[in-house]
Amino acid sequence: MELKEVLLKRRSVRKFTDEPVSEEMIEELLHAAMSGPSACNKKPWEFYVVTNAEKLEELKSASKFSKFSSKLAIIVCGNLSRALPMQMASYWIQDCSAATENILLRVTDLGLGAVWCGIYPQKRAEESVREMLDIPKTQVPLNVIFIGHPAEEPDARDQYEEKRIHYIK
Ligand SMILES: Cc1cc2nc3c(=O)[nH]c(=O)nc-3n(C[C@H](O)[C@H](O)[C@H](O)COP(=O)(O)O)c2cc1C
Repeated sequence: MELKEVLLKRRSVRKFTDEPVSEEMIEELLHAAMSGPSACNKKPWEFYVVTNAEKLEELKSASKFSKFSSKLAIIVCGNLSRALPMQMASYWIQDCSAATENILLRVTDLGLGAVWCGIYPQKRAEESVREMLDIPKTQVPLNVIFIGHPAEEPDARDQYEEKRIHYIK
């Protein structure tokens, strides 16, 4: 698929079939994630790949808006011990968001579907995901991405809005 088509086709998919996602596809998604840019190339990310049925069930209660049934979830975490020092540390959020978007785009490219469910900065959700997956205190779960073979296909769309652009010529 052309990149432009992938960009317009990427939509949040919240309904999935029971077909599992193959290991090859999972590896493709993780390759895409780690191809992203990161501040000073620190790559302060960790990825928890969940295919365990019980854990997937638990993850539905990670936040108020994460009640989705899928065969795969990837939790993108910022590893604070690999982050930049002092006030630059917060760049982990941008680094991990870029990795997340790369996963979503590759998901679309492979004909899969996914929804990004925000965890950080919801303190209670962070704690509950950390507990569910035994994530160390030095790592912050940014999101849970529920991924699967799509059982719905939201329309591709172009959200271009000229009035949001400010040219300085
Ligand atoms: C930081 C972030 C957090 C989000 N959290 C949730 C969520 O908790 N639950 C959910 O159903 N969708 C969530 N979404 C998906 C958005 O609702 C969705 O991207 C938006 O409505 C636009 O729709 P689209 O993805 O189909 O273009 C999140 C998206 C982002 C970027």
